[in-house]
Order: sequence, then structure tokens, then C-alpha cells
Amino acid sequence: MDQKLPGMLPALGWNSWNTFTWDINENLIKRMADVMVEEGYLEAGYEYVVIDDCWSLKERDAEGRLVPDPAKFPNGMKAVADYIHSKGLKFGMYSCAGTHTCAGHPGSFEHEFEDARQFAQWGVDYLKYDYCFKPRHVSGELLYKRMSLALKNCGRDILFSACNWGEDNVYQWIRESGAHSYRSTGDIQDRWDSIKNIALSQLEKEPFTGSYCHNDMDMLVVGMYGGSNSDFIGSKIGGCTDAQYRSHFALWCMMDSPLMIGCDLRKANAFTKELLQNKDLLAINQDPESRGAYRIKVEPQWFKAEDAFVLAKVLADGDIALGFFNFSDTARELSLQFWDIGLPYASNVSLSLYDCINHKELGSFRERYSPTVPSGDCVVVRAHLEVL
Ligand code: GLA
Repeated sequence: MDQKLPGMLPALGWNSWNTFTWDINENLIKRMADVMVEEGYLEAGYEYVVIDDCWSLKERDAEGRLVPDPAKFPNGMKAVADYIHSKGLKFGMYSCAGTHTCAGHPGSFEHEFEDARQFAQWGVDYLKYDYCFKPRHVSGELLYKRMSLALKNCGRDILFSACNWGEDNVYQWIRESGAHSYRSTGDIQDRWDSIKNIALSQLEKEPFTGSYCHNDMDMLVVGMYGGSNSDFIGSKIGGCTDAQYRSHFALWCMMDSPLMIGCDLRKANAFTKELLQNKDLLAINQDPESRGAYRIKVEPQWFKAEDAFVLAKVLADGDIALGFFNFSDTARELSLQFWDIGLPYASNVSLSLYDCINHKELGSFRERYSPTVPSGDCVVVRAHLEVL
């Protein structure tokens, strides 16, 4: 079997929306593709370059086709796709299940099959499909099922990234629709509260992610530091601390989310680049089994999930990724009793721990591991079982 069928693993890439919203053009997208190759992002696994909303004119042409805005994309989308492909990257675009996109451009409602064919002709490899302006009397579930079929029959492998913000019990029907990922929450903002709320809202949703249909917790704000052109996303908010961005990235890796970078890669600082290219965290996200992470159930007197929690993700080679997250305002010791992942002392198993953030072996542990985690920060270890 071809291990690289689209959507088997969470998609990795860059998306224009968080930083640039409407202000996109051919040169910007090409430059971002250059940086992805030159600065090691492609080698680290980030392969999709995705143009979000606002790429088209506000009207279809006389034949009913979508028209790229000539002021932004004077050579059309095929030229952009060709350039991106020539760099060894893949090309993503955006449309909407409703009559219009969220920014008021034409959506694909009742144009699904012709638009899918058009995307295939342009050389599109990924389609993000939004949920604005859906006619009220029409089932959203059926619209995603329809577009999924249109894409699967358009003659090209196109990853289908559904984006209905967790509405209409999407968990219950999205995998069957054929979509490769689904947005499970409203839009992320470049602030710590937004990151925390998204993560907390998905903590008990671990059964609803996995190979070929991943829980998309929205695009990353890592490295933005308030650098969006949108007040809503974060230009007035000012961004997060490095520790908070680290927790954000580690959570998205542990929880099986696609990782779509949202910052301006041309300006990424050393911390951002190192975090986004952290091989040990990316290996957890790209584990071939794509399991969700479960939260360790602890006695309520220890701590509430809103303050701190520990996640465990079982990996294909038998290791376990363990993430210790501190959402509270003070440093905390977060104690994991190995009993709580099924390994009591009597099982004669010790865990050899490897620190995925500082890239170093921590030694062998029996019974418990209790790191002290600073406020807003995290500790992520990969545990290798040693059966005594
Ligand atoms: C919605 C989506 C965002 C982005 C915008 C574009 O809000 O959730 O991710 O695509 O639309 O208008």
C-alpha cells in the first residue's frame, strides 16, 4: 500500500489566513514556498502551501467558473501550483460549502463537481472547505459528503480538509463522509486563552481522531507574536510567550491535529523555527497509528483540567508519549503514577524517559515521574518500556 495516500497522517503545512487574511498575492505565496524549502520546513515534513479565503473575484464568470483575482494572482492558479510543485511542495486552496465564503467570495454550493474539476485542473492537492453562508434548509452533513465525493472523483488526489467549526455534531458523521480532517472548534486567536480553550474543549474527544480523519484544532499561531493584520486574530492582542507557544505546539502534536503554520515564515525567529521543526514532537504527531491522546484521570483534589493535566498517547512502536501541561498561573509539580497508564509496580516495567523538548535522556523511572512545570509551559517525554 502507498503509505503516502493523502490524509493518512495529520497534514503539515503553511496557511495564509492567520497572518495575512485578505492581503495575499502570487509573490507572497511563492516566497513562502521558497522559505519552506530553504529554511528546512519541507525537510521537517511541512509539505502543503495553502491559500485561504480571498483569492477569487466576488463573481463567477459567464460559464459559472471561479475566477482568481487578477490583481492578486495575475498568472492564475495553475502558475502558482506549478511553482509550488517545482519546489517539491504541495498546493492547497480554499472554498466553502455555502453560497459564499466567510469573506464574501463565491462558495461552492451547488457547484461542487465543477469546482472540484477546476481545482484538479489547476493542480490543487488540498482543499479547505468552510461553512459560512450555508442555506438554512440544507443539511451541512450532506454538503460535506457531496464535496468529498466530488473530490474523490475529480481525477486527482486532493486532501479534503473540512472546516465546520465542530458544528452539527460533526464528530458523528465526518469520518464516513470521506473527509481527511475536520475543524472541531471556532477560529483560533493569537492569545493564550484561545489556545487553552481549544485544547480543553477537545480533551474528551480522543476517540474522534485517527488515520484518514484527524481532529483539526485549527491553524497554529506559534511565532505570530501579534503579527496578524486582523484585530480578531491578534494584531491588538499581542500574542503569547514562548512557553505558551511551546505548549500550544506540543498539545497539537499530542492530540493528533494537523499542523498548519500560521506565522510569517520569512520573519520567524530562532525559537519559532526550532519549535516548529522539533523532530521529536513532530514524530509524535506523525506517528503511523495516529491515536488520540487520553487524559490521565486523577483524583479531583490534585488538580482540575483547567489548571493542569497529563496526556498519554500510545505510539506504534510501543512507546508512550507523555505530555505534562500547566495552564495555571504558578509552577506545579505534575505527578504521573504509572499505575494510571496501566503499569503498577508489580508489572515489573520501568520507563526509560526521553525529553522531547531538550532532546536528552532522563534515565529510568519506576512507579512515578513528577516534573515541575512552570506556568503556561509543558514537559513532553517519550517513554520506552523496559520489561524487567
Ligand atoms: C472561517 C475559518 C477560518 C478562515 C476564515 C476565512 O472563519 O474558520 O479558518 O478560513 O473563515 O474567511
